[in-house]
Amino acid sequence: MTTTVPTAGQAGLERILARAQEICDRETARLLERTPASAALYQRAYRTLPFGVVSSFQKGAPYPIYVSRGKGSHVWDQDGTEYLDYHGGFGAMVAGHAHPRIVEAIHEAASRGTHFAVTTEVGVAFGEEICRRFNLEMIRFANSGTEATMDAIRVARAATGRDVICKIEGSYHGHHDAVMFSIVPNADVMGGRERPAKAPVSRGLVKDAHKYIEVVPFNDAVLLERLFQEKGKEIACLIMEPAMMNIGIVLPDPAYLRRVRELCTQYGVIFIYDEIKTGFTIARGGATERFGVQPDLVCLAKAISGGLPAAAFGGRADLMRLIEQGVSQMGTYNGNPLVAHVGLVMLTEILTPAAYQHFARLGARLVAGCNAAIARYEIPAHTVDLGAKGCVSYRPTPMTTYRDFLETRPELFAASYPWLLNRGIFMTPGDEEQWTLSVQHTDADIDAYIEVFAGFCAELRR
Ligand SMILES: Cc1ncc(COP(=O)(O)O)c(C=O)c1O
Repeated sequence: MTTTVPTAGQAGLERILARAQEICDRETARLLERTPASAALYQRAYRTLPFGVVSSFQKGAPYPIYVSRGKGSHVWDQDGTEYLDYHGGFGAMVAGHAHPRIVEAIHEAASRGTHFAVTTEVGVAFGEEICRRFNLEMIRFANSGTEATMDAIRVARAATGRDVICKIEGSYHGHHDAVMFSIVPNADVMGGRERPAKAPVSRGLVKDAHKYIEVVPFNDAVLLERLFQEKGKEIACLIMEPAMMNIGIVLPDPAYLRRVRELCTQYGVIFIYDEIKTGFTIARGGATERFGVQPDLVCLAKAISGGLPAAAFGGRADLMRLIEQGVSQMGTYNGNPLVAHVGLVMLTEILTPAAYQHFARLGARLVAGCNAAIARYEIPAHTVDLGAKGCVSYRPTPMTTYRDFLETRPELFAASYPWLLNRGIFMTPGDEEQWTLSVQHTDADIDAYIEVFAGFCAELRR
């Protein structure tokens, strides 16, 4: 799934970095010149929205590129320029845009009434389908990944009577206080490798929130065991992205996940998968199916409902039944008939086994094309291919843990971003993300990406 190709040595690297700076300057100037409508909308939006955007992850320098519509594998920006979409709404849009069946399903649900705050049969059926895919005994709905992880953590705390959460250095689990630590810590605040610091990511957190968090590196069961030996009796849960997807993509060592499972059972720590990105994108049953290790609870969102704001968490019945015994879990819009009907259509009619074969075939084609360019031009980069998700990361060898991400070359990403945009490829603005393929992407779309990316590699070497 990860591929490393031979690259040039240090002398070559310095030359490439100098070229990257030139490309970045030139392409950014061109981007700004051809996006006056985005600039104007930014001026307007900035007056009412902090950073001029509806969520801080969408900000961009000097302004974000605003999108006005999408169809199939394409999006159009505020200036009317058409792009092939590899951004995929941060991983939510595996159906592609305005998929005819999703549009129809929205109409069907809307015509019957979108919201009653009463459980409907379709809500029950949606839950059953997710449980089947992820081998969950029970489930509850929410409206965002943030809510799903917040609720799963509350259940884990109630189940164990313990307060501390263990998380992986460099993972993101949403923006509630409990998990706003050590997301992409800078080298100067991250502490030692064996006991990473609990670096807060936001102002305004409860002052002693750090007392309730422990941070460990990914893919290292020895350090996890050491922490559990020391503090296991205080730790309610371990929450992890089974494949890290907020620093490019870091794959788990299968033996690591198996060992983590054993350790959590041994120390009575609830094992929570945050499958908000991996769920529905990397296999029918997400990472739970793909890597073959069953956690106690799974959190889901993003690709669950055709681009509508739905989320869920579920798992062992004895844990989920705590909601009947004093654990609060609620939400006016949870599992409403609109998201439930569209979600059920999404899972049963669109994300079929054929869809996953499609992702696998296109992903392999895309990565093969990128690898050929990386090898030909000796670019210090590697690729990862994981179902509908994949990435080029500017480090010669695959990452195994967060600290490897600090060795990637942001200069190369910074040059690639405007290069791709100026040639019709819409990507996420940060190197911590990855591409998302949809069922509406075609071979021709993949080849277009490869051609533009190969041009970028050639330009770095000119
Ligand atoms: C792994 C992971 N967990 C949780 C979240 C939070 O989800 P949401 O933005 O829906 O609150 C994200 C969002 O990017 C995520 O990537």
